[in-house]
Amino acid sequence: MENQTTDKKSLPAALLGWVDARFPLSKMYNDHVGQYYAPKNFNFWYFFGSLAMLVLVIQIVSGIFLTMNFKPDGTLNEHNLPVAFSSVEYIMRDVSGGWIIRYMHSTGASMFFVVVYLHMFRGLIYGSFKKPRELVWVFGSLIFLALMAEAFMGYLLPWGQMSYWGAQVIINLFAAIPVIGPDLSTWIRGDFNVSDITLNRFFALHVIAVPLVLIGLVVAHLIALHEVGSNNPDGVEIKKLKDENGIPLDGIPFHPYYTVKDILGVVVFLIVFCGILFFVPEMGGYFLEKPNFDPADPLKTPAHIAPVWYFTPFYAILRAVPSFFGTQIWGVLAMGAAVVLIALLPWLDKSPVKSIRYRGPIFKIMLVLFVISFIGLGILGALPNSDVRTIVAQLLSIIYFAFFLGMPFYTKMDKDGTPPERVTMSTTKQKVMFFVYTIITVVGAYLFAIII
Ligand code: HEM
Repeated sequence: MENQTTDKKSLPAALLGWVDARFPLSKMYNDHVGQYYAPKNFNFWYFFGSLAMLVLVIQIVSGIFLTMNFKPDGTLNEHNLPVAFSSVEYIMRDVSGGWIIRYMHSTGASMFFVVVYLHMFRGLIYGSFKKPRELVWVFGSLIFLALMAEAFMGYLLPWGQMSYWGAQVIINLFAAIPVIGPDLSTWIRGDFNVSDITLNRFFALHVIAVPLVLIGLVVAHLIALHEVGSNNPDGVEIKKLKDENGIPLDGIPFHPYYTVKDILGVVVFLIVFCGILFFVPEMGGYFLEKPNFDPADPLKTPAHIAPVWYFTPFYAILRAVPSFFGTQIWGVLAMGAAVVLIALLPWLDKSPVKSIRYRGPIFKIMLVLFVISFIGLGILGALPNSDVRTIVAQLLSIIYFAFFLGMPFYTKMDKDGTPPERVTMSTTKQKVMFFVYTIITVVGAYLFAIII
């Protein structure tokens, strides 16, 4: 009788046992969360991966609700306005809660790029793209490409002036490709100009095809990361030193340590996100451009066509390259190369050292120049062209490419320091950081509650 009662499992435990015998639920949880040992010295740069996942979820959920009232239709209604444009106005004015869903999605798009650019920069400064994380980086670069496609196609949907003319300019770039170019751009549009047909296919690709690819790539990104383990601000491989149970000496389980830490990141992020959402959702024309509040007019080209801020560094490179032999293809190639080179970083960097903390001076100088060039190009890409601006954009483009193409040489010549055997983290620092994080979390949660 006694044995019977002690053997009896609680209902949840019995249910879990039943599932585990048929599906590796506990194993997956342990592999990726409960017994995933991450380096103990993660700093704030390590917030941005989980934040990128949060924004992905925000985009998918707000996107689903937007789709319930959006109409991908470029024809004119009884008020002589495009149906798609009017359906967005309808969401903003008449659908209950529609405005917040729409602003969540449009602000979310820009915040996605803020978070992903910071996430990529972290990889750059800590050498997280280097062996054995090359595939983590390559999957990340593919995510970046898919994200750009997703944002570009999403921007056409509200069928405003910038949606229309931005798409027209970018799709026309494909026409610069020799031989197949003109037919290719017609094939992408499905018409000789951007039209209702283009709007319909971009809608299909934006709401289902590319999000599926994105989710698949994020899963691959994380599987690859958890196979090799996370890098850290010291660039030390924690798997090299393990205790008698096979647990890395400098590792701590992801849960509860980093689940709790990531909540701090989420709180701070949501304060910023809600602040923008409620007070400056258009960000002065940077998140939603002003001409996009006018309906698309195929007969009226806006005076100045510029993509949204997250594309402007690459757009500036495109414009900086002159049309040699009367073709724009060189600019298109340069813009494509600017993205592809990012994916090739693991093979361009020849330094044995990962983290910026132990890199030599040349890499540090090149990195600063690269950041200046990227931000400078971003600013120039948003402005109308002028002779002086073109020259500055050309200089900055040269710096951008020098950072990547010179890397195999300057990383070999550089005088790197010696990284430590174990991760560095003083206990005083740990205590101070714990105190600071606690204060931020409490104050942050309070502010968040007030804003909401
Ligand atoms: C939807 C976009 C993305 C999501 C959801 C995502 C998610 C994550 C997560 C959750 C982590 C682990 C936590 C962390 O290290 O912060 C991570 C790590 C990493 N990601 Fe991403 N990521 C995205 C895009 C990218 C992009 C565009 C790149 C680079 C081109 C990239 C490169 C990396 C690298 C190298 C690591 C390992 C970092 C380390 O161990 O130091 N990720 N990512």
